[in-house]
Amino acid sequence: MANFTQTLLKWYKINKRDLPFRDTHDAYRIWLSEIIFQQTRISQGLSYYEKFAAKFPTPAALAAADEDEVLKLWQGLGYYSRARNLHAAAKSMKGVFPRTYDGVRALKGVGDYTAAAICSMAYNMPYAVVDGNVYRVLARVFGITTPIDSTEGKKEFTALAQKLLNKKHPGDFNQAMMDFGAMVCTPQAARCEGCPFIKICVARRQNRVDELPVKAQKTKVSERFFHYIYVEQGPFVWLHKRGAGDIWQNLYELPLVETAKKGMLKKSPTWCGRAKLSPVGSSVKHVLSHRVIWAQLYKAVLPPAAQVPPQFLRVKKSSLEKYAVPRLVQKLLERI
Ligand code: ADE
Repeated sequence: MANFTQTLLKWYKINKRDLPFRDTHDAYRIWLSEIIFQQTRISQGLSYYEKFAAKFPTPAALAAADEDEVLKLWQGLGYYSRARNLHAAAKSMKGVFPRTYDGVRALKGVGDYTAAAICSMAYNMPYAVVDGNVYRVLARVFGITTPIDSTEGKKEFTALAQKLLNKKHPGDFNQAMMDFGAMVCTPQAARCEGCPFIKICVARRQNRVDELPVKAQKTKVSERFFHYIYVEQGPFVWLHKRGAGDIWQNLYELPLVETAKKGMLKKSPTWCGRAKLSPVGSSVKHVLSHRVIWAQLYKAVLPPAAQVPPQFLRVKKSSLEKYAVPRLVQKLLERI
């Protein structure tokens, strides 16, 4: 065990990634980075971290922002509840980032993983993180077959990570696990040649690297069929702000008709009046974690006198870019 920890820290010292939030013990910045990198690859999220840290250098600055502004800056990162929670949590801090584990854990959007990450890195507190990387590395090196999505598995992996944690350098240990999982012990095509654990790795010895970690349940993916309509009215276009209880809460999109089955829209929605719907390009497949969305874009040209229904807002085409839209909508808009 001590061997594992020392070997990992030695590997980290030589191979660690040079990341901007590693130069700081500022808990606020570490929190920003952890929320951004929770479900986003480092290469994809780095520019967002820089933008957020520059525009909102303190909790007070973030709290003072408008939610639309925060969502706009988040645009393209996905999982927008992270941005809404980030903003709500900043407001709850009253200008001061919490100093205790319980205080950090109580922030909106902060679970066990993020609380452990922040407290270990910012405050040197002895909490081990358990994320996908940690499950994978431990399952393989120690040959653990307990499903990682079971209560028992969560307990077992958390206890092991906690036991292995270097209590003097918990932040380094946690980040070493993450980097090692991202760079060497990867989900596919693990780089076992050159791995410092090659001699002790149970999965490697049993030739089961690709089988571990074990997941009991398959993620269910459901399909949805979206028909977006670019409603043009002279210099204006219609938008819709999405509400609660579904994906993309509080983001903007084009007027939408959802159908239960695949295929082109057969009937125009009433708010299009007599305008003809012209398809723009073919349908696109957009993959989210639990959904596949098939989206088709249409264009409808409405006369200047047409009424704008209350669920829509009419905006100048030239100001479209001020609104935070999901990446799918952004992609479709590029066709116009
Ligand atoms: N992913 C999320 N947070 C990280 C960190 N601090 N280091 C490396 N990868 C991460």
